[in-house]
Amino acid sequence: MTILALESSCDDTGAAVMRDGALLSNVVATQHVHEQYGGVVPELASRAHQQHVLPVVTAALRQAGVGKHELDAVAVTQGPGLLGSLLVGGMFAKSLALALDKPLLAVNHMRAHILAHFIEEPRPAFPFLCLTVSGGHTQLVVVRSALAMEVIGQTIDDAAGEAFDKTAKLLGLPYPGGPRLDKLAQTGNPRRFAFPEGALPGGYDFSFSGLKTAVLYFLKKETAAYPPFIEENLADLCASIQHTIVSTLLRQLRRAAAATGLTQVALAGGVAANSGLRAALQAEAQERGWQVFIPAFPFCTDNAAMIAMSAHFQYLAGDFASQLLSPDPRLKLK
Ligand code: KG4
Ligand code: ZN
Repeated sequence: MTILALESSCDDTGAAVMRDGALLSNVVATQHVHEQYGGVVPELASRAHQQHVLPVVTAALRQAGVGKHELDAVAVTQGPGLLGSLLVGGMFAKSLALALDKPLLAVNHMRAHILAHFIEEPRPAFPFLCLTVSGGHTQLVVVRSALAMEVIGQTIDDAAGEAFDKTAKLLGLPYPGGPRLDKLAQTGNPRRFAFPEGALPGGYDFSFSGLKTAVLYFLKKETAAYPPFIEENLADLCASIQHTIVSTLLRQLRRAAAATGLTQVALAGGVAANSGLRAALQAEAQERGWQVFIPAFPFCTDNAAMIAMSAHFQYLAGDFASQLLSPDPRLKLK
């Protein structure tokens, strides 16, 4: 069973080929056009997807050594994501499936982030708990099987990656600020400044907009009194902000693990690269006897290999889409 998968939900155009669950190729074209705007510009993202989709698919087939007539199915991200971006991948996949007379598979991007754990060893066993943290999403999910997932907590406003990027921007760091803030945090004191945590009481939800506002007003006050405040305290500011975000994530993860009794804990999404989050999770795991799973970085950020992995499970379950498939920017995970 050979599947070609496409990913175009945000600002990465991806194509991957998978045969019987084994990844044969995984190509991603990242769009740099957004850097000058300090965030993803949806219209520019759609246009860049249009430019990248054919070369990326061609490269994925070539690297896999697979001709298009050898494909058994074409898979594509249906949502969630940016409508214009999803449309480009969706139309391409539908056209290709129609031309080749092969079945189409519609993949939920959030489910795919979680199933990225099955691309390579070590793979978690079902059921497990997954914290998906990216620029667009923050979700705590009980993963019962490849196709049965329950979202038990999520952000009610900004995603964790957005919290990193937006606070980094307030510190004057270029977009996307998350990785830069992480690097600077490594030499800073995480307990120097205290910011409000965003773990909502009651369930397992998160809120990160309060942190952004708190940092904004704090910096305004301090720089009014002493203009070089940010540059002279940059590492400590980064470390303190990172510590706040990581503590918030860990607090809800700890509560969810205790309530569900799950001891296999998985991280997914681009923020899984954060060194503070990784260290805190490993420390927590040691203390509580959790087994931790983090996919290799190229499978954490947006990629088509994870779309192919989800499509693989869906193909086995007979979960196919029709040519009437349309993108759903707010597609829910279930
Ligand atoms: O999963 P991803 O590539 O794209 C989305 O689906 O959003 O995640 C990108 C996000 C960005 O917000 C980026 O700043 C953040 O992940 N990120 C990090 C780090 N590496 C990537 N945030 C904090 N520390 C990092 N090392
Ligand atoms: Zn993503």
